[in-house]
Amino acid sequence: MNVTDRIALVTGANRGIGRHFVLELLDRGASKVYATARRPETLAFDDTRVVPLRLDLLDHESVTAAAAAAGEVSLLVNNAGITTGAELVTGDLAEIRREMDTHFWGTLDVIRAFSPVLAGNGGGAIVNVLSALSWFASPGAGGVRRRQGRRVEHDERRTTRARRSGHARSRSTPRRRRH
Ligand SMILES: NC(=O)c1ccc[n+]([C@@H]2O[C@H](COP(=O)([O-])OP(=O)(O)OC[C@H]3O[C@@H](n4cnc5c(N)ncnc54)[C@H](OP(=O)(O)O)[C@@H]3O)[C@@H](O)[C@H]2O)c1
Repeated sequence: MNVTDRIALVTGANRGIGRHFVLELLDRGASKVYATARRPETLAFDDTRVVPLRLDLLDHESVTAAAAAAGEVSLLVNNAGITTGAELVTGDLAEIRREMDTHFWGTLDVIRAFSPVLAGNGGGAIVNVLSALSWFASPGAGGVRRRQGRRVEHDERRTTRARRSGHARSRSTPRRRRH
């Protein structure tokens, strides 16, 4: 997708990969980037094309408010995430739930809120940032595997539906290998 003159929104944009998504989008000519964070005061960008916005994946009202405020978005980058390292069988169940709530249900909430926005702007794209950990087992990464694996499966189903309806195209990173 050509991002020149496109209006994008990035979750978890205050640090890590999310911050670099914002900088890269600006470098590639995006006309506006909604940089979202659960604590917007931690967003530090000096480009006037950046619009800071509050969005917490675990706060449904903040998600719908962001979708209402960012009605011109045609590129959504679902980047925000956590890693608790909790073991699926022996780890703290509350931490495992938090990973699923954040990565699966939280991301789905954002996708549901922004799908009509993207459709209203003629289609567009959703980028879901995933992990190679969804493909293999390693200690402490069980939650990552389940949540990201479900996100891959969900993303593939949604892409098929979106293609059928002619609406948003979707791309996850990295792409799932075919066996
Ligand atoms: N780094 C890697 O090696 C790697 C590998 C594969 C996949 N990933 C994925 O890439 C994404 C970004 O990773 P990263 O390394 O940049 O992580 P990071 O540096 O830990 O940053 C995570 C970002 O997500 C935000 N976040 C966490 N919970 C949130 C919530 N409930 N609502 C909104 N924002 C929330 C954080 O905000 P706060 O500052 O408020 O905590 C932060 O901005 C994640 O989805 C991660 O699973 C990373």
